[in-house]
Amino acid sequence: MDGLFLLIMGVQGAGKGTQAKYICDKYNLLHISTGDLFRAMKSRTDELAKHVIATINAGILVDDETTNAVLKDRLEQDDVKNYGGVLLDGYPRNEPQAKWLTDYLAGQGRAIDAVLVLELDLYTAFKRSFGRVTGADGAAYNIYSNHDGISWTFEQDANKMFPPRLVAQRADGTALNRRADDADAFAVIGRIEKFLNETRPVLPHYEAEGVLHKVNADQPIETVRDQIFGLIDAAKNRRKG
Ligand code: AP5
Ligand code: MG
Repeated sequence: MDGLFLLIMGVQGAGKGTQAKYICDKYNLLHISTGDLFRAMKSRTDELAKHVIATINAGILVDDETTNAVLKDRLEQDDVKNYGGVLLDGYPRNEPQAKWLTDYLAGQGRAIDAVLVLELDLYTAFKRSFGRVTGADGAAYNIYSNHDGISWTFEQDANKMFPPRLVAQRADGTALNRRADDADAFAVIGRIEKFLNETRPVLPHYEAEGVLHKVNADQPIETVRDQIFGLIDAAKNRRKG
């Protein structure tokens, strides 16, 4: 494994996944989202996968041992050499994971080149997740901010045992999907709390190492993207120099 090693961090809904696509396209980086790796387990029926899916749907963190093993496995697959580096999205989530990553990279004579932190107020973060729906083609919408061409309703639970459910569709009637951990307001709030209590305390370590770069995520997607590109270009120049 060689090349750039970048992290993108921020509260849920800050736009990590959105920006990761632009970054990886431009710099030919491998996008590793631990959340995506875990969600991909939903088609499996083994006990580990069932445990992981139940955990993420509740907005709780998956245990470090499982998370580190899943990440290590992905970092060591053959295709990694085809990329100009790696962008980690959603890892590390706490101090033990940050330590594991530092030690793992040091074992290979590597270090993190830049940590991109997307800063967003928590109410906007809540709406970005709670209102997020996606098409089967990957198109992303949000009922609060990006809803051209879609319609939605809140359907009451027949027995009023659960809060109303958001149901969204395109104008042509095709259904839009919602992540299970976005559909549950308690899980959304739980993820915000986890970020505040466990992930945010990791940031001062990266700041002390001089690799932390903050970006205001409450700006148009393209503005955030261009600011990130500027930071990555600077990180690449530092490597050369
Ligand atoms: P994960 O998948 O990482 O979820 P998350 O951190 O909660 O973040 P999201 O994916 O919800 O948000 P995002 O920042 O990617 O925003 P997005 O680009 O989609 O983790 C899920 C779960 O997996 C965790 O809760 C945990 O259980 C488990 N897990 C994962 N990693 C783990 C780890 N390391 N250890 C233990 N457990 C782990 O954007 C959100 C919305 O906003 C979209 O609708 C988008 O279109 C919109 N949007 C984005 N940018 C903008 C903008 N600038 N302006 C307006 N709208 C915008
Ligand atoms: Mg994401």
